[in-house]
Amino acid sequence: MKQYSLLAPAKINLYLEIVGDRSDGFHELVMILQSIDLADRVEIKPAGRQTIHLHCNHSHLSDPQTNLAYRAAAFMRDRYLDQFNHHGGVDITLEKNIPIAAGLAGGSADAAAVLVGLNSLWELGLTQPELQDLAAELGSDVPFCVAGGTAIATGRGEQLDFIRGYSGMWVVLGKHKSLEVSTPWAYTTYRHQFGKTYKEPEEFSDQVKRVESGELVEAIAKENSNAIAQHLHNDLEEVVLPAYPEVAKLREAFKQSNALGTMMSGSGPTVFGLCESQKQAQTVKKQVAEQMADPDLQLWVTSFVSQGIAVGT
Ligand code: C5P
Repeated sequence: MKQYSLLAPAKINLYLEIVGDRSDGFHELVMILQSIDLADRVEIKPAGRQTIHLHCNHSHLSDPQTNLAYRAAAFMRDRYLDQFNHHGGVDITLEKNIPIAAGLAGGSADAAAVLVGLNSLWELGLTQPELQDLAAELGSDVPFCVAGGTAIATGRGEQLDFIRGYSGMWVVLGKHKSLEVSTPWAYTTYRHQFGKTYKEPEEFSDQVKRVESGELVEAIAKENSNAIAQHLHNDLEEVVLPAYPEVAKLREAFKQSNALGTMMSGSGPTVFGLCESQKQAQTVKKQVAEQMADPDLQLWVTSFVSQGIAVGT
């Protein structure tokens, strides 16, 4: 029996700028996304009957209505019903290592792994761009998670321009175990507070060009760790840090550490610090742990990686 084991890496946002409102109710964004070496494992095999079955080691994620991996499988079943029936449904086992509602696109990575896995299991022969088009229907970050690496993401986040990344950087992640931030809440609150400053649609492309030719993209191209760390940016910090003092405190602890630069990822609450070596990252982890002295705080040492979903058998 064929079965696939996929690694689904998380992402961090090196840059997240909210440019304006879109007619579909989403925000027009310019982001720089980076895959990191913290991954969920997704096992996919035929269920032996016409059903989608999901096992998960995280109790919060067992509801099929909200689990994005399940929704990805249901979406593919509806698109490719003959193959679904022919191969006998699908059995998905999700081993969560990426924290949920953390700003690390864990759910999107799982959904991307299901698309890639079913493409192989059902012998669909879909190309990467075709998989990315399907992925965009499941969520704004899912297309990036399919290919991974380093990309400038625009539109809702689904328009991707992959750039050559710099694999030499280390990342320390910090997240309070008990804390989750709702992405819709973060964007709605931002619109409420800063909507007046939004650009008009005709100005969107100029803003994208500014970022594409900006200092952060240049720093990545030159593999200049210090410059990368100095040009991190995330507009959503403006709403998340005041509402979640624990996140602001964590951000400050990273700032006081030896990290080259620090920023919140996505809609938070994960905060990361960038380092140029594993040794430096271990030191930063220790410094932040000591400074925070908080049993609820989880810390990881990880690194940039240059690919998204990796398929094994
Ligand atoms: O696309 P996704 O389901 O990941 O988006 C989650 C939520 O984040 C959306 O419902 C919306 O509130 C917000 N969002 C947004 N603009 C984007 C992406 C996400 O307003 N470009």
